[in-house]
Amino acid sequence: MAIQPIRLFGDPVLRTPAAPVETFDKELRKLVADLTETMMDAPGAGLAAPQIGVSLRVFTYWVDDEPGHLINPDLDLSEETQDGDEGCLSIPDLAFDTIRSRRVVAKGMNMHGEPVVIEGSDLLARALQHETDHLDGILFIDRLDPDSRKDAMRLIRAAEWFGEAAPVVQASPHAISSRWL
Ligand code: NI
Repeated sequence: MAIQPIRLFGDPVLRTPAAPVETFDKELRKLVADLTETMMDAPGAGLAAPQIGVSLRVFTYWVDDEPGHLINPDLDLSEETQDGDEGCLSIPDLAFDTIRSRRVVAKGMNMHGEPVVIEGSDLLARALQHETDHLDGILFIDRLDPDSRKDAMRLIRAAEWFGEAAPVVQASPHAISSRWL
């Protein structure tokens, strides 16, 4: 396992819809391990593969001390909503009130290719929605009302980390990453 650099807002991989996983092999298990370790080191409540430069439909989450992962997720959202602060490891140090569904039923696969269903409410539901958005190239600031989004963009443009040279895309040591980078 290895902690990977987290890609920041402005990196095109964060705006690229990720491809479904078709092969449930050792490389995929390594990706899940890297995501889990990188998320816990950050620390974060969730991390999606594009955030470490891998454009595959995989994310990890870490809510209530329970780490988990989901592959090729498909979400059913409750009509009831929740409001609360949300942030993103790819947009450091910023949090905004973001409306999300209160409950989610997430269907997908685990890293062994077995079907799994994750039911979550509140923070877990928020994480499942946020991470699935990442797989579609959507960032939480896209979910804000226009005024808050304008504020967020102003803060991002003023942030120290923004506008640094885009990270060089390196040849990945993992077959599964280099296939999609
Ligand atoms: Ni995020």
